[in-house]
Amino acid sequence: MSRILAINGSYRSNGITDQSVNALTEAAEAAGAVTETVLLRRYPVEFCLNCRRCTQEPGDAPGECVLNDGMQELIDRMELADGYIFASPTNFGTVTAVFKRFMERLIVYAYWPWDMRSPSLRKAKLRKKKAVLVSSCAAPGIIGRLFHETHRQLRMTAQVTGARTVGTLFTGLTGREQAPVLPERACTRIVSLAERLI
Ligand SMILES: Cc1cc2nc3c(=O)[nH]c(=O)nc-3n(C[C@H](O)[C@H](O)[C@H](O)COP(=O)(O)O)c2cc1C
Repeated sequence: MSRILAINGSYRSNGITDQSVNALTEAAEAAGAVTETVLLRRYPVEFCLNCRRCTQEPGDAPGECVLNDGMQELIDRMELADGYIFASPTNFGTVTAVFKRFMERLIVYAYWPWDMRSPSLRKAKLRKKKAVLVSSCAAPGIIGRLFHETHRQLRMTAQVTGARTVGTLFTGLTGREQAPVLPERACTRIVSLAERLI
């Protein structure tokens, strides 16, 4: 049975990101997967200290962080997952601050001893897992996808964690209503994205 972990960086309860992630996890469950969702807005993740202690030992396994918050438990859950949903709205052209804070803590997936000029990603070549990326913006979808950093940041998250991106749900023009509703065409796409994910 496929285990899917959704990591949601939206600040807003029942906004477009929550609706997209919920619809995706429901579709994945209907197709036989087990899912869980982490709402970063309610999850204890501190800022990376840039101490790089977690990057010093070689190997495929994520390094150990010196901080004592919820991140180690989240990494353990990620290691058990077969696939990911990485989700964040676009704020000022990129992922939200809580999503970026989570991303920076993924440095545990890098091997980067002090005598090495740049990091080597522990799992980049494995690509055993799959990821679906979810984002939205007030701009038209195509503009947001081409000119904002959000999609590239979500892709990088998948790459760092050793996942292959199998699909993207990018919803544009979400800023015209106070309580936007996921468009019908997104709901149709979600079913095929969930199938690709599991
Ligand atoms: C602080 C802030 C910054 C934003 N920056 C952008 C932006 O740079 N480009 C854009 O197209 N939309 C921007 N938006 C709109 C959000 O990306 C959009 O409303 C998104 O769908 C919100 O997701 P949610 O419904 O999950 O909260 C911004 C919204 C806020 C509150």
